[in-house]
Amino acid sequence: SPAFENDLKAAIRAIPDYPKPGIIFRDITTLLGSARAFRRAVDELVQPWAGSKIDKIAGIEARGFIIGGAIAHQLSAGFIPIRKKGKLPHKSVRIAYSLEYGIDEMEMHEDAVTPGERVILVDDLIATGGTAEGAVKLLRQMGAEVVSAVFMVDLPELGGADKLRALGVNVRTLVSFEGH
Ligand code: PRP
Ligand code: MG
Repeated sequence: SPAFENDLKAAIRAIPDYPKPGIIFRDITTLLGSARAFRRAVDELVQPWAGSKIDKIAGIEARGFIIGGAIAHQLSAGFIPIRKKGKLPHKSVRIAYSLEYGIDEMEMHEDAVTPGERVILVDDLIATGGTAEGAVKLLRQMGAEVVSAVFMVDLPELGGADKLRALGVNVRTLVSFEGH
């Protein structure tokens, strides 16, 4: 509902000119710090999946871990950490992904998912979608069925959610901010 979206928006702090002039940084730490807002956001993200079989939640380092962990608990699912390269101890699969400026690489353990498992991808925010696209490709490469990708915040002008939808991913976001 609009009232709910406005409550969540109000719980997210705007930091002007961070990390550089002209950018408004959407700081979710204030939402996370509000017991009520955090619970409502997690409840709303899991609501379509209550009662369905979800095997695992994949969270993207670092902020996706916070929300992904809460969602995994709520849905009684396992948790897969998708990490920046070089952090995981066991044999891993790696993929390059595009950032607003340049590229980076992310990894997951090769045995983190069993082919056919139903996985929901979680991150705090989707902007250009480069990060989430990399994660979807990695999960699919390992045989996961990515049943949805969920984010608290969407920056629709940057086109990330549309990019994921073009890959056939069901995308759910809670709040949208125009302008960035
Ligand atoms: C931010 C955010 C998303 C990603 C979205 O993470 O948490 O993961 O950028 O951007 P995109 O849609 O354009 O790819 P960041 O890389 O800043 O790292 P962090 O979560 O570890 O802080
Ligand atoms: Mg991130």
